[in-house]
Amino acid sequence: MGPVLLSAEGKVPVTSAGYETVDGVLHADRVPLPAIAAAVGTPSYVYSANTIRERFRRLDEAFAGIPHHIHFAVKANSNLHVLRVLRSLGAGVDIVSGGELYRALEAGFSGGDVVFSGVGKTVEEIAQALDAGVQLINVESEAEVVVIDMVAGQKGVKAPIAIRVNPEVTVETPHEYIKTGEKGQKFGIPRDDVSRLVDCILDLPNVELRGLGMHLGSQIGNADPLRDALPRLLSAIAYARQAGHPIAFMDVGGGLSVPYEAHEMPADIDDYARVVRAAAQETGLTLLLEPGRYLVAESGVLLTSVLYRKHAAGKDFVVTDAGMSDLIRPALYHAYHGIEAVTATSGTITADVVGPICESGDFFAKARTLPDVKAGDLLAVRTAGAYGFTMASNYNSRPRPAEVLVDGDQFAIAGAREQLDDLVRLERAPLQWRPA
Ligand code: LLP
Repeated sequence: MGPVLLSAEGKVPVTSAGYETVDGVLHADRVPLPAIAAAVGTPSYVYSANTIRERFRRLDEAFAGIPHHIHFAVKANSNLHVLRVLRSLGAGVDIVSGGELYRALEAGFSGGDVVFSGVGKTVEEIAQALDAGVQLINVESEAEVVVIDMVAGQKGVKAPIAIRVNPEVTVETPHEYIKTGEKGQKFGIPRDDVSRLVDCILDLPNVELRGLGMHLGSQIGNADPLRDALPRLLSAIAYARQAGHPIAFMDVGGGLSVPYEAHEMPADIDDYARVVRAAAQETGLTLLLEPGRYLVAESGVLLTSVLYRKHAAGKDFVVTDAGMSDLIRPALYHAYHGIEAVTATSGTITADVVGPICESGDFFAKARTLPDVKAGDLLAVRTAGAYGFTMASNYNSRPRPAEVLVDGDQFAIAGAREQLDDLVRLERAPLQWRPA
């Protein structure tokens, strides 16, 4: 029997690979979370390596038999040790900055494992990517492709590029900030403009158009937007091939959803794979996938201690030592995260779960039915392995939390807790005034 997550509607038990309640204590794999809290302190992110492996294999197997490569979207979780788990499984990476490229190389990926996305790559980042020999640079504007051509020319290399198409379909996501493939977004080349860019690339001597791709958004619940978008991507691919470009890759981006609330369904990987495989097979191209959340979200929890219980204006509050600086998703997207007592308690309360930060938006849950926890108890904020630590900040001058990797019956610090000195060390140098 897995851990009991309390949904907004009441008590609906759900289980998630990697986390299980054994004798009333929540475990990550076979490690009891109180042991991690005792050794490493709170707040801490905990990741189950086995969950990541299980998700990767599930997705990889769904595409067995067709040429494909899974490029993990590093923005979801860029911890070096998490990246190494994924590399050992055969993943590549999807990156969006020179910093992510640096991390990927540090984790042992080679340039050929990398696709580089993003609307605002700098000259330095493009040069860094070419030096690393990335597999593809996904271009998002005509102006950008001209800069890539220039940088590649200076280096005497041919830059392998792909066009990110904005197919302009309707995308349903839980929050508007995480949709990208709709008309009017900053991402990609609007589908009607793709042919002009394809033609223009023929005149650029230092770039080679090797692929076309798209990314529709994140936390997309079903394959409908893909069904609408794929024919548009396929017609762009057909146009580029006809124009004589050596197209080898078709990239369908990321966006697979995970259940955050008990009533939500896991992504239907088989349906997703059916739709995508059919399109990829029609082209004969190597299929690239860029999942982030699907591979890591459920592997992670944010482990936090209850500092105080508080009763004010007829409401109950549970004040935790983690706040929006550690996990911003509830504040930024009104995202739901299951919250669980690590050690079983009797009775329930209805409370707001809030952090210590001086902002009204600093909450993890509002009016949530929770176990009746008291000061000193541990809570696990679930499904926090994606876009948790990577979006953490030092707001309120709070050191960022530790990260812990669990593998079977052992655990290790995968990222040390920041120290107070880390908060000021880049500001220590005396001011060296320069004349205007
Ligand atoms: N590829 C590209 C080009 C992307 O922009 C993204 C995510 C992905 C792949 C991976 O998407 P995923 O498979 O993880 O859905 N911070 C937000 C999510 C922003 C996603 C941005 N792009 C959140 O916490 O929900």
